[in-house]
Amino acid sequence: MKIMVIGGGGREHAIIKKLKENPQAEVIYALPGNGGIAADAICVDIGAKDIPAIVRFAQEKKIDYAVVAPDDPLALGCVDALEAAGVPCFGPDKKAAVIEGSKVFSKNLMKKYGIPTAAYEVFDDPAAALSYLETAAIPTVVKADGLALGKGVTVAMTREEAKQAVREIMEDRKFGDSGSRIVIEEYLEGPEVSVLSFTDGETVVPMVSSMDHKRALDGDQGPNTGGMGTVAPNPFYTEEVAKVCMEKIFLPTIRAMKAEGRTFRGCLYFGLMITKDGPKVIEYNCRFGDPETQVVLPLLQSDLLTVMQAVTEGRLQDCPVTFRKGAACCVVLASAGYPGAYKKGYEITIPEDVRENVYVAGAALKDGKLVTSGGRVLGVTATADTLQEAVSAAYAMSDRIAFENRFCRRDIGRRALNAGI
Ligand code: AMP
Ligand code: GLY
Repeated sequence: MKIMVIGGGGREHAIIKKLKENPQAEVIYALPGNGGIAADAICVDIGAKDIPAIVRFAQEKKIDYAVVAPDDPLALGCVDALEAAGVPCFGPDKKAAVIEGSKVFSKNLMKKYGIPTAAYEVFDDPAAALSYLETAAIPTVVKADGLALGKGVTVAMTREEAKQAVREIMEDRKFGDSGSRIVIEEYLEGPEVSVLSFTDGETVVPMVSSMDHKRALDGDQGPNTGGMGTVAPNPFYTEEVAKVCMEKIFLPTIRAMKAEGRTFRGCLYFGLMITKDGPKVIEYNCRFGDPETQVVLPLLQSDLLTVMQAVTEGRLQDCPVTFRKGAACCVVLASAGYPGAYKKGYEITIPEDVRENVYVAGAALKDGKLVTSGGRVLGVTATADTLQEAVSAAYAMSDRIAFENRFCRRDIGRRALNAGI
């Protein structure tokens, strides 16, 4: 089979490595991939948002199966375009991808179908939003409606901070048209859990739970990032919580999307807060999370290609999906300065025996050498019988990878280890 994976980060590298385990995957193309992915797939210089070029490439190469990983092409209808050209895909169509692409849509969906989430109001007029904030309970959370590179959410600890966020999103249009509408919602407290799931629109199969570490610095300090590390499973996601989530959140969401004529096929990511009143949805993503995928897929025992095809063909109910017992930890190595400005072009050295565990996010090939080209450069994942062992092994491996200006958090997994659950 000829397979093509759209995207070029650590998540896509993890998907490609897992797909390669199936001998049927003869050739894998990555569009655009990156310098590290080039060790595992043929990278093609086509951007993930260039849908006409993606479709042309698929037709030229007679691609048998496509995996569309990032949110942008999904929201732009990449799956619709490929399917119209006869290429079977893993990923939701444009109508279903709106569950991530519009916060107003997802909040209204949850309200209509009684799915637990934070109470909220929608505004399309900045004056009305600012006036609402005069009396709203503080802290509060302000969210731009559309995709904003993961930066459209402000958790405001003061009234002034919330107003400032409204002004930036709606008046200054910091995120462009994504800010023509906003959601202002209740502040929730509790540990956060990410649950990725496979769904064909009828059956939903949650994957092993995980925990992201979004802040740049140890102790959850510093600015928000795309994710500095992950662990799986997440100890706060107990069997009891999992049962409630299935009944009150996962199945109702899948059924709601179907009822709305937006059947979701692909990976649906549930961002959950385990509050004292039970689990509530913070956000939906219409795709695999990054860097959650880098701990979830290494624990997947089943063959990824087989499961993905079952999703595409609506056969998930008959497809066993199993995860190995044990735990995984991914430590992200970043360029100093990230998520702000950083230098790039530094050579990366990775010992031979560690390569298998490395998922490259931001690196390019220059004169045959791997050099840094992004803020998050790569992730190193270890799996083990216990979380403590996985964390130690992930740090032991990552400490053997060298490049100038390298930084990482030293406390990935600590909160999970201290959970005492
Ligand atoms: P997002 O960009 O949607 O992933 O949101 C970023 C982060 O904002 C989440 O991971 C949460 O930590 C936080 N957040 C979002 N919504 C709420 C809420 N209603 N209450 C408290 N924190 C929230
Ligand atoms: N790690 C969070 C996300 O992929 O959106």
